[in-house]
Amino acid sequence: MTKSILVINGPNLNLLGTREPEIYGADTLGDIKDKMTAKAASVEMDIDFRQSNTEGEIVGWIQEAREHHDAIIINAGALTHTSVAIMDALLAVDKPCVEVHLSNIFKREKFRHHSYISAAAVGLITGFGATGYLMAVDAVKNELK
Ligand code: DQA
Repeated sequence: MTKSILVINGPNLNLLGTREPEIYGADTLGDIKDKMTAKAASVEMDIDFRQSNTEGEIVGWIQEAREHHDAIIINAGALTHTSVAIMDALLAVDKPCVEVHLSNIFKREKFRHHSYISAAAVGLITGFGATGYLMAVDAVKNELK
């Protein structure tokens, strides 16, 4: 059966394309969705691509993944650095999770160097722009082998 990946994008990622393009690149979130859909299809996987500015909604989606998805790819935006609730939800879901950031969080302000998501992720892809999301699809494919 085709495996399903839940792709979660956190706060402000709906603004991609116009939001600090020198840091986050020129691709819109729609462009990233299209590229990921094509990439996932090429390795016989489906993606369910979502964005929310609300922590509680993201926690609800992660809980849903217990029943409906095989893996999670998450760019939690600023919630990466603050959300114990998202970390706990990911730990409660026994599915591989890959963390993605467009920018290299370790090259930026100190407060971005800590990630609660990393404690619940198989691994982290940071600093490769939109390509990082495509790398994450390969990482998930490999984890689900
Ligand atoms: C980000 C990095 C975060 O520190 C920031 O708050 C974001 C985007 C990234 O993709 O580089 O919103 O997750």
